[in-house]
Order: sequence, then structure tokens, then C-alpha cells
Amino acid sequence: MTMAESPPAVEHLPFPLFVAASDGYVRFANAAWRSLGGTQGRLWTQPFGAVETETGDAWLRNGFGRLPNVLNAMQSTPDGVRWYRIASQVALDADGAAIGVLGTAIDITDQRRAEAEAEAVLDTAVDAIVVIDSAGRITRFNQAAERMFGYAEAELLGEPVNRLMPEPHRTDHDAYLQRYKDSGEKKIIGIGRELDAIDRFGRLFPLYLAVSEVNVDGRLRFTGIIRDLTERHAAEEQAREQRERLAHVGRLSTMGEMTASIAHEINQPLTAIAMYAQSCLTLLDRGEVDTDRLGAALAKLNQQSLRAGEVIERIQRFVLNQDSHRESASVNRLLSDLLQLAGSDARMHGIELRFEPSASLPEVFCDPIQIQQVALNLIRNAIDAMAEIDCRNGNRVTLRTRLTVEGRVEVSVSDMGSGVADDQASRLFTAFHTTKSDGMGMGLSICRTIIEGHGGTLDFRNQVAGAVFFFTLPTGTMDE
Ligand SMILES: Nc1ncnc2c1ncn2[C@@H]1O[C@H](COP(=O)(O)OP(=O)(O)O)[C@@H](O)[C@H]1O
Ligand SMILES: [Mg+2]
Repeated sequence: MTMAESPPAVEHLPFPLFVAASDGYVRFANAAWRSLGGTQGRLWTQPFGAVETETGDAWLRNGFGRLPNVLNAMQSTPDGVRWYRIASQVALDADGAAIGVLGTAIDITDQRRAEAEAEAVLDTAVDAIVVIDSAGRITRFNQAAERMFGYAEAELLGEPVNRLMPEPHRTDHDAYLQRYKDSGEKKIIGIGRELDAIDRFGRLFPLYLAVSEVNVDGRLRFTGIIRDLTERHAAEEQAREQRERLAHVGRLSTMGEMTASIAHEINQPLTAIAMYAQSCLTLLDRGEVDTDRLGAALAKLNQQSLRAGEVIERIQRFVLNQDSHRESASVNRLLSDLLQLAGSDARMHGIELRFEPSASLPEVFCDPIQIQQVALNLIRNAIDAMAEIDCRNGNRVTLRTRLTVEGRVEVSVSDMGSGVADDQASRLFTAFHTTKSDGMGMGLSICRTIIEGHGGTLDFRNQVAGAVFFFTLPTGTMDE
């Protein structure tokens, strides 16, 4: 067969086909190629407005070369642009000499459109998106990622993704990837987690990373969707600081309200000190140098001054604690420590304060002073509620701890007051809501803020006589 003949068998093939001489001029075009606008005797590129080729125009005009070649060509039509993928192959004669080129075209318009859409979706995405291959090399870095990390995509293509990570992840990332490929054990894929990243300028910042795995025809890709958490963390930090300040103000005002009982608590040892000092002086005045009696009196004096010092120290701890910190603490120990502070207040009102701790409670990760503050507020409210009705229903406040079925530690303060009136119930935890003439109405609102800041809940219910206020705290450490 020579190139000039029209092979009738290909005339009606369902795809475009042409045969060109090595100068690029078409010798034969089948019906499908002709319907693309191709004509015999013209350059094969004639139906197209543009041809994407890396080897340049010269390649197009001076022959197709000996290797199979693939390139994309664009055609403007009244219905818009269409793209074709042209595959060409040199045809050889029996002696192995090139006699021309055979070319076909596939319409890839829809495919290109889909790809372009996917690219646009990637680049207009609010979240940063980084795609890596199975070796951890970056294959895509969208515009949001460029803004977040300060790199241009072109700088990072083919680079290991661990450039975006601080140590120790930078070093360990290859091992993570390998372990996943070996074992299929998912540490992050499909789960997502908070991590630190490092940008072009060395700034360390927190982010949320969700990774998904894409496997197209055995070609593995990991897509990371990234959200910068800097602002969220800052807002959380601000909210936390505000909570701390509020809690601190709350403690100051509680102490202010308790001045009477505190003064009483300090006056007792002071009075005792004065008394023992007096009796020492009397002994000396009499000229008795009974060292045993003198020593005993001085020892008691010392003991009382320590007691006064303890009261002051406890109050100081309670009030000065500005910078809150969390630690693993026993709620029972915390509460029995608090009873020293609350006990005198109760006694002054003729109220019995009973503590019924549950024997085996797990520790709680909390700010001990803040938890004491909440319990103290609940106790003081209980005392107020009972004093208001002159302890008609009884004069006992019971503080209990228990482990709930959900595995949380619950603290409850049960009183014998008149309970919470139905029309008060909904406003109880609102700031400045009070039914007391000298009340601030901040107590419960601060208490709830503190407990919720600890991941717990605070609520109440009425009982036969009085109310019971209770709060729960999650057990375990912060990471759980
Ligand atoms: N144990 C209780 N029994 C009945 N009412 C209570 C009890 N605790 C709180 N309350 C009601 O909730 C209101 C708000 O309490 P709180 O926020 O501590 O502010 P304050 O004690 O300054 O009034 C109280 O004024 C009272 O009406
Ligand atoms: Mg109160």
C-alpha cells in the first residue's frame, strides 16, 4: 500500500484517523477526521487553533519523528472550545524506511473540563489542600496552602512533605508512611488530628489535618485538608483568660462576703494566743520559774499562732490563685481541705456541715482552687437558703461525692432550705440574678462557667425539703 491510496477499511472507523507524509501534509483522512475539519493535502494541524507540544512548532512541520507521540490540540467551534488528544505513530515500509505517519484523535474535552474544574475547586477551596504521592512527595499545593505556608506551589512540587513539619515529625514522617504502607494501620488517615506545622519563615503554628487516601488504578495519593487553628487557639486562650479573671473576681467577692466568719476564725487563735501570753507573764510576775508550766503554755501559744497562720494561708491560697493551673487531684481531699474554710461559716449560722465522701474515686484533672470555689459557693447558697427560713426544715448541709455510671466524679450539695421556686429555675444561672437583698447573683453563673470549662456540668433539682446542687467532672487527663 502506498500512502496516496485511501484504505477503504478505515474510511468509516468510528474515530478520526489520518495518514500524513513526514512533512506533516495529510495524504489520507477518514470520514471522522474530515468531519473534524481535516482535509487531504493540508497540514494535519489545520483543523486546530492551537497545539500543545513541548517539542515546538518545528517538530510539527518537519515531521513527526520516529517515536510514537501524543499531544493535545485545541479547536474553536461555535459551541465552544474542544480539545483532542492526538496520538501519532510513524509507519514503516517493508524495508523499515519511514513512509509516513499515522495519527488518531480522541475527544478529551469533557475530561479536560473535569480536570480544570477539579483544579479550580482545589484552588478556590478555603482550606489548604496538599496532595502527596506514596513516597511523601508533594504533587499538589493549592492556593490556600500557598497563603498558609508562604510557599509557591512550584517551589514545593516534588519536595518531601515533611518540610512543612517540625521535629520530631519531620524525621519520623517517612517511617509513618512506610509503616502505613506495610501494615495498613491508620494513625491519621480518615481520622484527622491537631498538629503543629512550620511555615516558610519558621513560624510554628497549630493546624487541624484530615488525611484521605486516593487510589486510582494503583496510583496512591494522600490528600491532606488543613485548617489553621492559630486564631481559634487564640480565641480559646482569650476565653480561658476571661474565665480565670471572672473566677478570681468571684473568689474575691466570696471572701468579702465571708469576712465575718473569717474574722471569727482568726480571732479564735488570736484570743487564745493573748490568753496564753498573759498566763506566761503572770507566771513570770510571780517569780515562779516553773519551766514545765511555762513551756506548756508557750507550746500552746505556738500551736495557736500556727493555727491562725494556717487560716490566713488558706485564704491567701484561695484568693491569690490568679494563674490557674490544672493538675490531677483527689476531689475528696480537695473538699475536706475546703471544709476548714467553709466550716466556720456554717457554724456561725448554726448549721451542721456534713461530708460523705465516696471511698474510691478516680482522680480528676482540674484546677483545685476553682473546684473548691464552686463547692464553697454551693455550700454558702445552701446555708443562705436555710437561714432564710430560720432552718425550719432542718439545719444540715450534706456534701457528697460519688462516681456516676458514666464514670464521672459527681459532687453534690444538699440542703434543707425551701428549694428553688419554679419561676426562678430558668434564671438561676444567669449573671446578676439574685433573690437576696445583699446578693450579687454572680455565684452560680461563675460556678457553671468554671465547671463547663472543665468539661463538666452543673445543675440542681428540688427535693422533699430543700434543693440539691450537683456538678460532675470528667476523670482522666486532658488528652483523653
Ligand atoms: N440552695 C439553694 N436553694 C434555693 N435557692 C437557691 C439555692 N442556691 C441558689 N439559689 C437561688 O439562686 C440565686 C442565685 O444564686 P447565686 O448566683 O449564688 O447568687 P447570690 O447567692 O448572690 O444570690 C439565689 O439568689 C437564690 O435565689
Ligand atoms: Mg451565692
